[in-house]
Amino acid sequence: MDSVDRRVLTQHLEALARAGLTHLPVAKLPPPEFVPAKPTAVTAPPPPKAVATVAPTIAAVPAVEAPIPLSGTASGMAPAITPSAPKPVADRSAALKILSQQVAGCTRCEVLASTRSQTVFGVGNPHARILFIGEAPGADEDATGEPFVGRAGQLLNDIIKASRLKREELYICNILKCRPPGNRTPEKDECANCEEYLLGQLGIIDPEYIICWGAVAAQNLLKSTAAIGKLRGKFHTWGRAKVMCTYHPSYLMRNPPAKKDVWEDMKFFMKDLGVDLNLKE
Ligand code: URA
Repeated sequence: MDSVDRRVLTQHLEALARAGLTHLPVAKLPPPEFVPAKPTAVTAPPPPKAVATVAPTIAAVPAVEAPIPLSGTASGMAPAITPSAPKPVADRSAALKILSQQVAGCTRCEVLASTRSQTVFGVGNPHARILFIGEAPGADEDATGEPFVGRAGQLLNDIIKASRLKREELYICNILKCRPPGNRTPEKDECANCEEYLLGQLGIIDPEYIICWGAVAAQNLLKSTAAIGKLRGKFHTWGRAKVMCTYHPSYLMRNPPAKKDVWEDMKFFMKDLGVDLNLKE
């Protein structure tokens, strides 16, 4: 751009800023629709979505395609401050990778950091419309670095299949990224230490739906002390996402009669996505 063009553009931007305009939009929200992502969608991202405004992303996550600040940049004034402006994340895979590297080096919980084989960050489609949250890695997850690969994971796979979903169209993670020794229930301070990482994942992926599997996931996400039996059976909201809570697959292995409740929950959930699980495929 030559100096005349630059001056004309500068004057134009300053005029817009004087008129009260603070930002130029660069991206539009796509209309909401349930289109199951194909496995290739992991490497071929759809149009950018806005990040939920209440879901804080951590500072190290690159938020690109942010609105272009108008006031200040051209005229030498201080840059516009818009703390609540949604920041679409263009390359979610890259942002998740940076976050997972931070998690891999985390030593906030002394006990967990010294007993884990590795951290278990999360897997799945960075553009998933549905995000699953479990409790914490178990022995199999600690060994492989992937969430829900053990017996609970097999049952979760069955639920996913019966619900006509595919694992590749989901994003799956846990409240804790490290295995608690002996698979004990996560401590409060451990959940608090790890919260920033979950919020980072939620901010990057910006799901439309979240399913909390079990009380630890539900209570920590929703900041509730209510029993899982009271939290299930309805939608809650977290940012712009609809949240459904249901029993953890490990609980179902100990208490098989509760499977029918989870199936009711999945039918309720899928109906909201326009899929009637009572009908034959
Ligand atoms: N249980 C969980 O909550 N998460 C896992 O990844 C495995 C078992």
